[in-house]
Amino acid sequence: MTASDPITTAPDIRTIETAVRRAARAPSLHNSQPWHWIFDGFLLHLYSDPDRRLLAADPRGRQQFIGCGAALHHARTVFATLGWHTDTIRLPDTSRMDHLAEIDFRPWSDPPPGIARRAAAIECRHSDRLPMLPPTAWTDLVHALRGLVTPHDLTLDVLPDEIRPQLAAVSERAAAARRYDMFYQQEIRWWSGHSGTSEGVPPTALASDAEFARVDVGRSFPRPSHSERRAEVRDRSALVVLSSYEDSITQWLRTGEALSAVLLECTAAGLATCPLTHITELPAGRQTVAAMLPHQASPQVIVRIGTAPDGEQPPPTPRRPLDEIFEIRH
Ligand SMILES: Cc1cc2nc3c(=O)[nH]c(=O)nc-3n(C[C@H](O)[C@H](O)[C@H](O)COP(=O)(O)O)c2cc1C
Repeated sequence: MTASDPITTAPDIRTIETAVRRAARAPSLHNSQPWHWIFDGFLLHLYSDPDRRLLAADPRGRQQFIGCGAALHHARTVFATLGWHTDTIRLPDTSRMDHLAEIDFRPWSDPPPGIARRAAAIECRHSDRLPMLPPTAWTDLVHALRGLVTPHDLTLDVLPDEIRPQLAAVSERAAAARRYDMFYQQEIRWWSGHSGTSEGVPPTALASDAEFARVDVGRSFPRPSHSERRAEVRDRSALVVLSSYEDSITQWLRTGEALSAVLLECTAAGLATCPLTHITELPAGRQTVAAMLPHQASPQVIVRIGTAPDGEQPPPTPRRPLDEIFEIRH
């Protein structure tokens, strides 16, 4: 900017639309996309969409807030690459818990370089449910990931290989606890395994029986028709836990922001990722994971991080059209 440039207080509508559209690539539980954006001419507001809460898997709405936090981080990352610094107030109206964030804008000519790398990763990130090889350059990456989650007041712990069998057993117990829970089963069948919709997890993103059998820690989804991708690989991904020091809406939102940063950084490093919450959404599973941590904290999300041997990208999962998630209200 030069002194003669007009003082602009907000991006133009096209910039806002670009950022909101790209923010919609954020991950969300069963691809429920529980967010709604409103631009008032100066500020951009993020709301959660209460009709998109998954009552069986997520009765308290914790995961809905995590998904919205991921979308918030995606949006801020994109705005930075478009030349805008975003000052964000989380939960600006204590009488409206669905009003999650209010974003104010300032021109920003020199965002740190890592932001552009993570923004570029938005379009290629996806949840990979197939077996993975171990992550590469892991020690340095863990250091970088810790640096990304700390500002959100979260911790990132790598689960040691020795306790993996224990975690696999907890994962299996979580599936068993849900097996005859008709409310949960109906919900997951509604949200996954269908093609041609703008929401939910499509069959191409799911693992077949043979593929799932080689992943020891994963949510049991309806299995699509038989396929044997990565037939020679048994899962050797690293498992990390994102935990917060308190359980509150703000910290759930922050968890989503940190999760977004972690997933994008790993994608930028050429790695595959998959967030997992089937264990931490059940009290017993959560307690078991908490006991595996070297400090006292509340485990929110486990993330599998590894190398996809084929480097093949499945088709991107669908997203709702912009006019369903964004409006302008002056
Ligand atoms: C809060 C949250 C919980 C999730 N839980 C799981 C899970 O337990 N298992 C899984 O395979 N994917 C899980 N995911 C990934 C979503 O299913 C995925 O983001 C969504 O289907 C969109 O697909 P994409 O990530 O490939 O864009 C979760 C994502 C979020 C944000």
